[in-house]
Amino acid sequence: MKVMVIQGPNLNMLGVRDPRIYGPVKLETIHENIQKHAQTLGVEVSFFQSNFEGEIVDKIQECFGEYDGIIINPAAYSHTSVAIRDAIAAVNIPTIEVHISNIHAREKFRQESLTAAVCAGVIAGFGPLGYHLALNGLAQIVGELNAVKEARKQAAAKAQMQQQTTQPQE
Ligand code: DQA
Repeated sequence: MKVMVIQGPNLNMLGVRDPRIYGPVKLETIHENIQKHAQTLGVEVSFFQSNFEGEIVDKIQECFGEYDGIIINPAAYSHTSVAIRDAIAAVNIPTIEVHISNIHAREKFRQESLTAAVCAGVIAGFGPLGYHLALNGLAQIVGELNAVKEARKQAAAKAQMQQQTTQPQE
């Protein structure tokens, strides 16, 4: 299972930026810890950070056909970006939105996320642990989806075999 972790604008400043809200840990360290957690789940993770909306849209599109799940912290774009929302909806890959802070306990403009509605779930307020929780959730969701796909494949193969054996021989 392959998961892409996408980090939006200013998250490259973690560790320096508002440590009382976002904590003291750098993005690089957060990614190292996600990587370790992913290994325990047998998940392959890749990481991408950008301060540019279009680059984030491009990265989401690149995931199509390549990744089983996406974890995204669209940061400030959560509250403004129809383009990122549309990209998540377009690729139809199970996606979990993560916010390090509890956006619901902050300024009014942060309390709405345009992107959340097209995600399978949202995790907010758990600090960097939120990325680990998202990974657990994705592993579960993707595992279940794959099990359903496999069961359908086997049912179709069985139906085909039955059809062949019941057809009269010429
Ligand atoms: C954030 C919350 C956003 O409102 C803010 O613009 C961010 C980070 C979070 O992780 O808590 O940059 O997404």
